[in-house]
Parts: sequence; C-alpha cells; structure tokens
Amino acid sequence: MMNALARLVRYVADAGQLPISYSAAWLSEAERAELDFFTHADRRRQWLSGRWIAKRLVTRSSDAGQLRRVEILSRSADGLGKSPKVLVDGQMASIRISLSHAGGAVLVGMTTDATSIGVDLAWDVPQDRQFSAAWFTEREQAWLAERPESASLLWGLKEAIFKSQGSGQAWNPRGVEIESYCDHQVRCTLFGRQLAPLAVWARHSHRGAATAVWQSAAGDTPAYPQQELSSCL
Ligand SMILES: CC(C)(COP(=O)(O)OP(=O)(O)OC[C@H]1O[C@@H](n2cnc3c(N)ncnc32)[C@H](O)[C@@H]1OP(=O)(O)O)[C@@H](O)C(=O)NCCC(=O)NCCS
Repeated sequence: MMNALARLVRYVADAGQLPISYSAAWLSEAERAELDFFTHADRRRQWLSGRWIAKRLVTRSSDAGQLRRVEILSRSADGLGKSPKVLVDGQMASIRISLSHAGGAVLVGMTTDATSIGVDLAWDVPQDRQFSAAWFTEREQAWLAERPESASLLWGLKEAIFKSQGSGQAWNPRGVEIESYCDHQVRCTLFGRQLAPLAVWARHSHRGAATAVWQSAAGDTPAYPQQELSSCL
C-alpha cells in the first residue's frame, strides 16, 4: 500500500470528471461524520474529491476496501479546519497530506517520510493596492509594487507555509512573512518565528498559482517533488 516515493504532488483540474464513487463504502465512520459537517453540495464534493485522490495516492488502488483502510481527518471537535491527520488501519502513519481546492480543481501534496508539506491553489488573487495593503506585509507590498503579477504566488506561498508549518494558530495572511524566494527555496517567518528554508514547487496558470512547500532535505536543491502528476480532465 505504501508509496515508495517520499514527496508527491497531484493536481486535478476538474475533479468532477473523476470516477469518484459517492457511496460511503470507502469512507470511515469518522470521515462520514466529518463530511456531514458540510451542507453545501460544492464543498462536499471538494471534500470528497480531495479524500479520494489522496487515498488513491496512498493505496495505489481504487478498491473501496483498500481506500477505507486509509482515514484522513481534517476537522477539530469544534468544526474548525486543521492539518489533515492520516491513519492507516487505525494507526498514525508517517504519511503527511495537504489539500487545497479551487472550484472543481484539487491539489494534493503527500510525503511518506513524515516531512511536513503544505499546498495551495491561489486563483484570482486581487492585484490592487487595497488588497495588498490589507493582507501583505510592508516588505511583500514593496515586492508586489514592482511585480503585481506575483500576487497569486505570494498568497499561495503564505497559505502553503501556514498549512505545512502552522501549529494550531488561526489563519492570518500577515502572520506569514515571505523574506525571499529564489532557486525553489523560500525563507520566511511564521507568527514572528524564523523558519528553516523550505523547498518550493510552483506552477502558474491564467487563474493564478499552484504551490507546494515542504521541509528541505539534502539533495532537494533545486527542489522538485520526486513525482509530479497532473491531470487536465
Ligand atoms: C488553512 C485555510 C486558511 C485554508 O482555507 P482555503 O484557502 O479556503 O481552503 P483550501 O482549499 O486552500 O484548503 C482547505 C484544506 O486545508 C486543510 N486545512 C484546514 N485547516 C488547516 C490547517 N490549520 N493546517 C493545515 N491544513 C489545513 C484541510 O485539509 C482543508 O481541506 P478539507 O477540509 O477538504 O480537508 C483555512 O482552512 C483555515 O483558516 N484553517 C484554520 C482554521 C482554524 O482557525 N483552526 C484553528 C486551529 S484548530
């Protein structure tokens, strides 16, 4: 079941075209309870498609029994989002998953060696000064004044860093400050704490940026996930 690769990023442009079974057979009881938290049909579809893609990456199978062995839970008791917890056969696994949705698109990041990973799909991020002044730090605003087209990338980096390195804080875009980004590596602070440089994978489209960050390891420069899969269904 376990994937031999340590880092993997999967992008699906239109999850609506995936052959996802909406029967509950591949979900655990706890997952079904989490799904029931959502009432909006689109959000339920996003939740299901992220789980289905991630479980298929872990199991390399589409068999409901195999998919059910993997449990991915991402809500605290009070219903707030949290970093996905991955269990295999009821045991905590060394697999880390990060998920992002934008409309029907889904981005999934996975590591199999307990390395933290965070992914984000940042689409249609406003490029105006008002938005920039509200959500970006002064240093980032100076960068954006020269390169307004980088707004999606900067936003995506912030969210991916928060997802990868946050420890239970509430999301605040100003809580992540990007200090530099070059050679597939980002230096930043998170709520005032300096982080070790993180490896970055980023792809651009007319809507914005798809971004993944993870803890760098020797041999990760330039940083690429060991496997990148994309599907433009
Ligand atoms: C992280 C966050 C900003 C992303 O929101 P978004 O841009 O609208 O949504 P995205 O599609 O990019 O990401 C959603 C996914 O992020 C993951 N996620 C949610 N909160 C997360 C967190 N704190 N850390 C890491 N990943 C998180 C979930 O897997 C979620 O997908 P799922 O609900 O289908 O499992 C938002 O979910 C958030 O604010 N979470 C924190 C909530 C909070 O304050 N929690 C307090 C600590 S328990």
